[in-house]
Amino acid sequence: MKPDKLTQGIHRVYARIGSRDLFEGIWPIEHGVLLNSYVVQGATHTAFIDLVKDWEGAVSEVESQLDSLGLTFSNIDYLVLNHMEPDHTGSLGVLCRKNPNMKIICTKKAVPLVQAFYGVTEQVQAVTSGDTIDLGGKTLVFEETPNIHWPETMMTYVPEDGVLFSCDAFGSFGQYDHCFDDELTEEEWELLIPETERYYANIVSSFSQFVLRGIQKLSPLDIRMVAPSHGVVWRGNPGQVIDLYKRLAEYMNGPAEPEIAFVWSSMYGNTAALIPVIRKTLEEEGVTVHMHEVPAEHASHVLKSAWRSSGLVIGMPTYEYRMFPPMYHILDILERSHVNNRKVMRFGSFGWSGGAQKQFDPFVNSLKWDCVGVVEYQGAPTESDKERAIEVARALAKSVKEWSR
Ligand code: FEO
Repeated sequence: MKPDKLTQGIHRVYARIGSRDLFEGIWPIEHGVLLNSYVVQGATHTAFIDLVKDWEGAVSEVESQLDSLGLTFSNIDYLVLNHMEPDHTGSLGVLCRKNPNMKIICTKKAVPLVQAFYGVTEQVQAVTSGDTIDLGGKTLVFEETPNIHWPETMMTYVPEDGVLFSCDAFGSFGQYDHCFDDELTEEEWELLIPETERYYANIVSSFSQFVLRGIQKLSPLDIRMVAPSHGVVWRGNPGQVIDLYKRLAEYMNGPAEPEIAFVWSSMYGNTAALIPVIRKTLEEEGVTVHMHEVPAEHASHVLKSAWRSSGLVIGMPTYEYRMFPPMYHILDILERSHVNNRKVMRFGSFGWSGGAQKQFDPFVNSLKWDCVGVVEYQGAPTESDKERAIEVARALAKSVKEWSR
């Protein structure tokens, strides 16, 4: 792999990570992910922005790309750590041993994490919003963007070129053969937008209020290129990814899209028996429905659908007097991510006694969901349960259509 030139003196050096591991140890990356670092060379000094974790040979890959630019780690004067999560800092110890003279630039909040994760205390220089470093004809300007998505995060901006190094913000899952948005093939676009949405829902969604605040903070900047640490570099239309992130952040408290995430579990088919009538009713009402069977499908995909949808259908049986455990996991994930203010219906079967609803109700309250109806029944659904399910599904579809963007 070769480094990509963003502009004179600025290059991306990066690694491709395959689908074998889970991202953050939890999220599947069926299409892989890119780890992007950037080299900024001024007339007098060189900066390296965000490291890579030594994951699938990433460090040697980056070293070899640096070599093709005529550089080694020992040429780096400033290492900028926009964010401390180990996918961007995992090789810090190795790099410090190779280059004990470089300065490590991070926010004040990041300093204790540099020590806690890597035992590094020397070489560290804390910066705050508006601080600058002159590289000779290129300036690094720092902007703290707390909680996008860790408290210590910041972004780095080069005003001479209008390049914003945004770390996780404006990033995506997926590997792309082309570096820039204006080079992508149709096939790559078909991957990029859904994988940006999934990445956002999985990694960033909990912090949406900070995303909106951060975008507002960045608005005075003349941003001509957005260079995130995952995904592609937005050169042709950097505003597209900023607008997409703004839209995704606004989904948190709704309204979202006029769509429904239909999430269901079934033990012996008695809960599943209502799926066809509910689904048909929703589709006849003209609402797009995203079907997810749990636990067959990973929470990552369920969360992505729930995040973009104004409506939710939760189908699950009672299990040992409580909710079906895999659905509890899903609801826990939705609660952590603050999938707030959705229109919801629930249905499900029980055997000797109910209990799922009792455990479901606190999620409804905590997430401020508007529950338009519940269809719960012993054993198999009767004709009257089916009629009630159709009635509730119609009410849900109407409510979703009236409320959505
Ligand atoms: Fe890509 Fe929050 O690390």
